[in-house]
Amino acid sequence: MSSGGRSHTAPPSSDRQPMTLPRLLEMKAAGEPIVMVTAYDYPSATVAEEAGVDIVLVGDSAAMVVLGYPGTEPVSMEEMIVLGKAVRRGLKTPLMVGDMPMGSYEASNELAVQNAQRLVKETGCQVVKLEAGGIAVERARAIVRSGIPVMGHVGLTPQTATALGGYKAQGKTAQGAIKLCEDALALQSVGCFAIVFEAIPAAIAEAIAERLEVPTIGIGAGPATAGQVLVFHDLLGITTGRMAKFVKRYADVHETMVSAVREYGEEVRSRHFPEPDHVYAVEPAELQEFRRYLEQESLASKTSWDWEPLP
Ligand code: KIV
Repeated sequence: MSSGGRSHTAPPSSDRQPMTLPRLLEMKAAGEPIVMVTAYDYPSATVAEEAGVDIVLVGDSAAMVVLGYPGTEPVSMEEMIVLGKAVRRGLKTPLMVGDMPMGSYEASNELAVQNAQRLVKETGCQVVKLEAGGIAVERARAIVRSGIPVMGHVGLTPQTATALGGYKAQGKTAQGAIKLCEDALALQSVGCFAIVFEAIPAAIAEAIAERLEVPTIGIGAGPATAGQVLVFHDLLGITTGRMAKFVKRYADVHETMVSAVREYGEEVRSRHFPEPDHVYAVEPAELQEFRRYLEQESLASKTSWDWEPLP
């Protein structure tokens, strides 16, 4: 995917057009990699905006990296909506994807459409994403028919990780790869405009992506997908502990934050903070008048104390 010496840095936000679905197809056709990242609040959205990414996913990974749940299963529609609204306020140009949390779409087409509409109406996301094949294919069809574009997600689908045998790569056997291929083709056939490939061997992802017309966005699926996605907190090193094999850390923000807060604590304790630059001044005449008032007040309260009869 050589770009013949062109700059790989996105132009500033003011020079970019808002991302559209036809533009994503053009990018895939031109072999121009699509950059996607997750965001969960206003600051992370403004970072994604300034960095010039193409797609921002308000992922249900928020459950783990922002809300501290052990998995993605517990996060609710209400929680996703609060996060999505904050992201919307920080975005101008990237396409905004709202992730449908577990339990918000599986039970019926009606429920799926209702919750997809909630995400779009209440957060301002333009499209939604749901996980896995199987029943999700029917739900994706219903949502697409209702007029909301859908991004599919195959491979390691964290909402159903237990059924998949845990957080591990999928499609490592021929049978597993066939299932992935069938799921991806089914999602494309019901109108999904793009499909996330998560934790799939690179050769399998490449072979399936070649059969698809829609863009594929990989996370742990090798370099052949039309785009890549990473979780904001993972790529910045805000999350700590063991990372999935596919995570590349571009910074160690957790360490930077801890040392900054530690230094702040030390300066408060040693009375080095606040410094003169951090305090507000008051006109000397105003201060003098206020002090006169305090003196009179303390005189008056002293007098009234003196007059107070003993119990
Ligand atoms: O929720 C999420 O962050 C995701 C990405 C890993 C694609 O689904």
